Amino acid sequence: VKEYKIAVIAGDGIGPEVIDEGINVLNEMAKMDGEIAFDFTYFPWGCEYYAETGKMMDDDGMEKLKGFDAVYLGAVGFPGVPDHISLWDLLLKIRKGFDQYINIRPITLLNGAPCPLEGVKREEIDMLFIRENSEGEYAGAGDWLFKGKPEEVVLQTGVFSRKGTERVIRYAFEEARKMNKSLTSISKGNALNYSMVFWDQIFDEVSKEYPDVQTYSYLVDAASMLMIKDPKRFEVVVTSNLFGDILTDLGAAIAGGLGLAAGANINPERDYPSMFEPIHGSAPDIAGEGIANPLASIWSASQMFDYFHRPDLGARVLKAIEDVLTEKEYVTPDLGGNASTSEVGARVIHYLKKEPNES
Ligand code: NAD
Ligand code: IPM
Ligand code: MN
Repeated sequence: VKEYKIAVIAGDGIGPEVIDEGINVLNEMAKMDGEIAFDFTYFPWGCEYYAETGKMMDDDGMEKLKGFDAVYLGAVGFPGVPDHISLWDLLLKIRKGFDQYINIRPITLLNGAPCPLEGVKREEIDMLFIRENSEGEYAGAGDWLFKGKPEEVVLQTGVFSRKGTERVIRYAFEEARKMNKSLTSISKGNALNYSMVFWDQIFDEVSKEYPDVQTYSYLVDAASMLMIKDPKRFEVVVTSNLFGDILTDLGAAIAGGLGLAAGANINPERDYPSMFEPIHGSAPDIAGEGIANPLASIWSASQMFDYFHRPDLGARVLKAIEDVLTEKEYVTPDLGGNASTSEVGARVIHYLKKEPNES
């Protein structure tokens, strides 16, 4: 039996509610499979921890996380702590500190998931977003000059290194090649006359190494329109940190909503743990009510199986999610139902058990 050590940072708001269900699913899968096991260690970090200690995580937090095989995270950020503090001192600190420079966000309309678009066939929404996750607009560089004065100016610097840009684009080409899909780059070279001109140039350069991969390139404004009007154009997509953030919430909206959108923050070299999390936040508006949709965090858990070289188990979890969505009896209010978070989690496990050896 191979045992994986998982650091759990359930975090804020609905984070702990949805993470509980993901952990139940991971444990159930492990039990059914018999060849894999999980050892979970909980870290109480987040905004409540900040209120008590003045810190979002322990000073040696990154050191503590280092030895784990993966981090499973709920959500970070809650009213009461400024977002730029809570996120930079925990979530973004981990993404950056562990060089998780690939953010994999599937935008796939699962069977049974609602879609607000008319005239679009289900299979036409099937994208794999690969978001640059370590630099770009999230470099954290800038300045705040003449604070409070009439001449006040703030600078927010995007940092696009050759290494950082090339590696994410190359990763995306490799994925597209493996999947035999096209690769679309989304940028904004017409206005961002340094960063995105550079991005486009590197995309062109790397594309020469992959003559077998069909490529497309769109400006981010047009891409946002096309994702709604003609989503089938997009298969594998590579884009910068901020554009990837925005476009994957948009993607979530056409693929069943934020309650169904999963993400994996990957350090491909495996020098550090990778981190799995739903792409939604702490949802303060529904926190504590027990009605958050746990399917996004369960889907992220399934990405963990892929990462641990057991895509068969990941596929089974995804199939169970689809079974729950198709049945429609046990879904949360965001999907038009009235089930609770834990009822949905239990229903996923019900289907996992029902089809134990199908994948
Ligand atoms: P949010 O994703 O928390 O919520 C947006 C809307 O979607 C809300 O109406 C919420 O109720 C709904 N929603 C989100 N997840 C849901 C789920 N699983 N089930 C049902 N409904 C769901 O975004 P926000 O309100 O802009 O941000 C709230 C806080 O979370 C902020 O502090 C923000 O910085 C933080 N945040 C954290 C992460 C993260 O930790 N990865 C991601 C996004 C936002
Ligand atoms: C996400 C979130 C984060 C991001 C925030 C909370 C910093 O929106 O994971 O999509 O912008 O990356
Ligand atoms: Mn986001």
